[in-house]
Amino acid sequence: MKNNVSTFLQAKQRNEKLTMLTAYDYSMAKLIDGAGINGILVGDSLGMVCLGYKDTLSVTMEDMIHHIKAVSRGTETALVVGDMPFMSYQTSVYDAVKNAGRIIQEGTAGAVKLEGGGSVYEQVKAIVKAQIPVMGHIGLTPQSVNMFGGFKVQGKDELQAKNIIEDAKKLEDAGVFSIVLEGIPYKLAQIITETVSVPTIGIGAGKYCDGQILVYQDMLGLFSDFTPKFVKSYGNAGEVIRNAFKAYISEVKTGVFPSEEYSFNIADDIIKKLY
Ligand code: KIV
Repeated sequence: MKNNVSTFLQAKQRNEKLTMLTAYDYSMAKLIDGAGINGILVGDSLGMVCLGYKDTLSVTMEDMIHHIKAVSRGTETALVVGDMPFMSYQTSVYDAVKNAGRIIQEGTAGAVKLEGGGSVYEQVKAIVKAQIPVMGHIGLTPQSVNMFGGFKVQGKDELQAKNIIEDAKKLEDAGVFSIVLEGIPYKLAQIITETVSVPTIGIGAGKYCDGQILVYQDMLGLFSDFTPKFVKSYGNAGEVIRNAFKAYISEVKTGVFPSEEYSFNIADDIIKKLY
């Protein structure tokens, strides 16, 4: 069944956990979609895990649309959510609606995601008014890395925790269909999940969220620059791939590959005429 905004909301009402992963290209989107995931986020984590930046701040709208298009083409049943990159919505309500529109129109995503709570209230309201579903994202929001002084868990003191709860309520009021909770204590995530009517999708926010999301490179051992504490390894694809590359290099160098099995033949009488 095709996932959409309604299926996300119904899942919360039915107490069914939602599953999401990130993807950035056609082949991986096909694999993830085929596994039966509810949603695929084309995150601006693209900047770090695919483009090699140290944070997400350099990612542009053009980068995002390029990858959202590829993921949309590889997806049949998951809801594709396109991330709004840094400075594509903070600058004005007009920019926010315009750029969200591009993600839907050019990227053919089913929804957009943006970071922030009260500070992006007007933007979220306007995007929703334009009939574009919005996923919120609060807590350790990577686009605020310079304000946070690093990728640090948020909401550990009373004031921060209260602010994050307020942000969640603001997003709900602005009309989001779900909220990503990133890098916050799990008991704070529990309070937020019990407070808002829309599903919470956790990443580093514990088991009480209505759903979970991970960056696929993290859970498969494909990104080695650093691994956050909240990432569980579901396989070491990095090791599998490295070994395959080494075997290929060795077989090419020793002439094992390509053998006849992997080559095309031609009749001997034709070959004779070619000398
Ligand atoms: O960009 C991203 O991948 C994200 C997830 C970590 C939620 O925002």
